[in-house]
Amino acid sequence: TELRYIRNFSIVAHIDHGKSTLADRLIQLTGTVAERDMKEQLLDSMDIERERGITIKANTVRIEYPAKDGQIYVLNLIDTPGHVDFAYEVSRSMRAVEGSLLVVDATQGVEAQTLANVYTAIEADHEIVPVLNKIDLPAAEPERVAEQIEDVIGIDASNAIRISAKTGLGIPDVLEAIVTRLPPPHEGDRTKPLKALLVDSYYDAYLGVVVLVRIIDGVLKKGDRIRMMKTGGIYPVDRIGVFRPAMQNVDELGPGEIGFLTASIKQVRDTRVGDTVTTEKKGCETPLPGFKPSQPVVFCGLFPVDTNDFDDLRDAIEKLALNDASFTYEMETSAALGFGFRCGFLGLLHLEVVRDRLEREYGIDLITTAPSVIYKIHMKDGEVRELHNPADMPDLTYVDHIQEPRIKATILVPDEFLGDVLKLCQDRRGEQLDLTYAGSRAMAVYDLPLNEVVFDFYDRLKSVTKGYASFDYQISGYREDYLVKMQILVNDEPVDALSVMVHRDRAEMRGRAMCEKLKELIPRHMFKIPIQAAIGGRVIARETIAALRKDVTAKCYGGDATRKRKLLDKQKAGKKKMRQFGKVEIPQQAFINALKMD
Ligand code: GTP
Repeated sequence: TELRYIRNFSIVAHIDHGKSTLADRLIQLTGTVAERDMKEQLLDSMDIERERGITIKANTVRIEYPAKDGQIYVLNLIDTPGHVDFAYEVSRSMRAVEGSLLVVDATQGVEAQTLANVYTAIEADHEIVPVLNKIDLPAAEPERVAEQIEDVIGIDASNAIRISAKTGLGIPDVLEAIVTRLPPPHEGDRTKPLKALLVDSYYDAYLGVVVLVRIIDGVLKKGDRIRMMKTGGIYPVDRIGVFRPAMQNVDELGPGEIGFLTASIKQVRDTRVGDTVTTEKKGCETPLPGFKPSQPVVFCGLFPVDTNDFDDLRDAIEKLALNDASFTYEMETSAALGFGFRCGFLGLLHLEVVRDRLEREYGIDLITTAPSVIYKIHMKDGEVRELHNPADMPDLTYVDHIQEPRIKATILVPDEFLGDVLKLCQDRRGEQLDLTYAGSRAMAVYDLPLNEVVFDFYDRLKSVTKGYASFDYQISGYREDYLVKMQILVNDEPVDALSVMVHRDRAEMRGRAMCEKLKELIPRHMFKIPIQAAIGGRVIARETIAALRKDVTAKCYGGDATRKRKLLDKQKAGKKKMRQFGKVEIPQQAFINALKMD
């Protein structure tokens, strides 16, 4: 296809503003799939994505569109992940296309991820076409939202397209705008050595790793031996094709085109997003700029509830890692929890998705320990250690100082909740960087320690704003602070899985809260159980669980034998969800719930 008849684009939007629905309509209207094959949200392929309504892996589809000028255009839509955790993948996918449809829900307006994603698109030099969605709803205020787009984002929204992705209203205008308002791909040279951007990859049980590429220069052909410039791998290409959205083989891909290749690549790890693909011989000399592999920032322990499930957990984790290069793991042993894995994630959502998949797809009951960030421990001898697990905190006498990661968080919230949001940020050691207004919404920008955010910040934010706040963040750097390791002792023994790093000023408060929570969460035993929070050897908070005086069955006075048996059965079932620790049984839920702050 000639370059001038190609349009490569993405759709940027806040979660739930209708990105997937619009993509489905575009596919449907161009007859790319037969009506009977049309499933809701074609692009979200994984079940979990569909259930949670989030798009995780970038996907792509090639659409053929006969435009009003009588020409048939090839439109390549790259679907980008919508969530903060995958910001790097979003920014890479954006480099593969020249334009974006900016979808904003006309009943909601601009949200935090609208901003984050549109700025990424602007950084990638995209032409942007604003689209106001959901105008079928009575609450839609397209005028106001168009004004807001101009005020907050600073792009012209006077010719924003008004649509309803649900009813199909306005979709033909969107197709026409893609052709007339978005630019064709930048000039590439077919005669130059192959240079292609690795946009995404995923593992397919039949084909092995499928790699999505955008060709910059040269031509990719079946039988080529390709080289990944950063990871160094060399592979013979056995298949080239495009997604329509089902895979369709083609003979070659030239400049400006987007498609996939397979090359008997065994693991997704060998195909890093952002890498440059070239040929083994006579390849290009300089790779595309700006490659950085995504690094995990949040760590937690995953342990099987039933120790007999360890081997199953290992198999499941290995399989998952095949398809997820940003997920890391290593074996970990905990005195409290036995054998498990210390796992690294791009963020909290990523953590939740992985945990859900392990539990649901692989049927393993898991204990998740408190998420932790990476601390930099500066030792007195000058060495700098990365601490992924509070349990590994070195002896303080050798430690000079500790640094923690900070983030820049952007929160958009209706005025009426602003006070609560500011208080929440303040409570979490935040420092205000900016506070501005856009209509009846406020935008607060805060510098916050990541460790105050990883656990329940997002839940708290949602609850204090009744779900009306939106949130986005990026890591901004490391800063020294007065951080200490706090241990929890149950029945006078430290439980490693409950150790956390906290700011010294917040230690008493956190310690008290954890002891109180554990007092509720750990059932009574035949003896009394002290629960203590300690820093070094010093106890800073304490609670006691009173001893159980009577046998539970004593409650069933009289001889109701069935009731008595039921009660005992219930107790036995409950036991399975417990972990024996010393003489004390700790319920599985306690490990994570102990940390939640009200
Ligand atoms: P993520 O995949 O989570 O990023 O969300 P999304 O932006 O892809 O949103 P999605 O297409 O899943 O739409 C979110 C919800 O809005 C769904 O329940 C849609 O049915 C609904 N929706 C989308 N477009 C319209 C519209 O034009 N009108 C109405 N009334 N509802 C819509």
